[in-house]
Amino acid sequence: MILLTGGLGYIGSHAATLLAKQGLDFIILDNLSNSKIDVLTRLEKITGKPIQFIHGDIRDRALLDQLFKNNPIQAVIHFAGLKAVGESMEKPLEYFDCNIHGSITLFEAMAEASIHKLVFSSSATVYGENDNPELVETMPTAMPTNNYGYTKLVIEQMLEKLAIANSRWSIAILRYFNPIGAHPSGLIGEDPQGIPNNLLPFVAKVATGELPILNVFGDDYPTPDGTAIRDYIHVMDLVDGHIKALDYIQNKSGCFIWNLGTGKGSSVLEIIENFEKVTGQKVPYQIAPRRAGDITACWANPEKSKHELDWQAHFSLEQMIEDLWRWTMPNKKEERI
Ligand code: NAD
Ligand code: WQD
Repeated sequence: MILLTGGLGYIGSHAATLLAKQGLDFIILDNLSNSKIDVLTRLEKITGKPIQFIHGDIRDRALLDQLFKNNPIQAVIHFAGLKAVGESMEKPLEYFDCNIHGSITLFEAMAEASIHKLVFSSSATVYGENDNPELVETMPTAMPTNNYGYTKLVIEQMLEKLAIANSRWSIAILRYFNPIGAHPSGLIGEDPQGIPNNLLPFVAKVATGELPILNVFGDDYPTPDGTAIRDYIHVMDLVDGHIKALDYIQNKSGCFIWNLGTGKGSSVLEIIENFEKVTGQKVPYQIAPRRAGDITACWANPEKSKHELDWQAHFSLEQMIEDLWRWTMPNKKEERI
């Protein structure tokens, strides 16, 4: 059995659909700080199976001990954490507590219960800004410009030291690029509270008329059209990488790092153009100043994941937008309310 921390969130819920599809047994632990309980019902609808869920916090050591005692858990996929870059600058201690202290509490409880297989959600943000936008796992990490990214770097470094100290640990660190899209059923997807920070959820809200206009943060970057470039990856491709990583570490000891990205970058203007083409909706936008902390361009070098995990992204940008749009369309939104 696998424990999914944060399994009702955006990425965790998509991972749950894939685990269920592959007949893998799992249990979800989530404190619902950034997700809604109705995701559980939706997961049951998609999978056709009851889903085991515990409402609780990774910082609750007694609860974790009980959970590990009562369930035959062999591995943990650790998604739980706070992820809003801007908020992390306003509330650093909340981020250190939830992400770093929460992870330490989880790892301690795992060690105590002799569970040493872990897949951790990291981020390409740990690479910082590089002269070469194609990011490879062997590149050195850099101090991220925001507190959220800092928590990811700290946890990565702790995990590497943990694996050195004790060879029983088998750890997969997955560096996500920019996950977008939704489950093809349209039943689950990213559901940000309030005004979204990330590009695609914002674009979708502009296309539905919920927000008036998109600010394109900077058109003076040294890129072909002047706007910043990122590697957008379909969330279903991303979660497939977790299952492959879990499989890889089954009989290995140590700490392994893999990029999860498509290897292809798209600019903000290319995203808008593709969104309009796929959905037939206009996305009004205006050029705004650069956003503090943003880098010019990055995309994954996915070769290591391809060779070692036999994993690669399959969904095209058009499919990512189609699935996001299916999830965002007003009829689906009404169903959720
Ligand atoms: P999300 O906020 O949708 O999901 C996180 C889930 O964890 C939520 O359901 C939340 O309620 C839960 N949670 C938060 N703190 C908790 C705690 N202390 N105890 C128990 N549950 C808790 O975020 P997501 O986009 O699904 O991201 C999942 C993981 O991937 C996070 O660790 C995030 O930092 C990382 N990540 C996300 C992205 C991205 O762009 N979405 C990119 C890189 C890395
Ligand atoms: C993408 C591009 C913006 C919004 C962030 C985190 C990272 C990871 C993923 C993890 C940038 C531009 C955006 C808007 C815009 N998070 N943009 N107008 O910044 O690459 O990565 O999310 O949990 O750690 O830093 O993603 O979607 O915010 O931005 O022009 O309203 O879109 O400037 O170039 P980012 P993003």
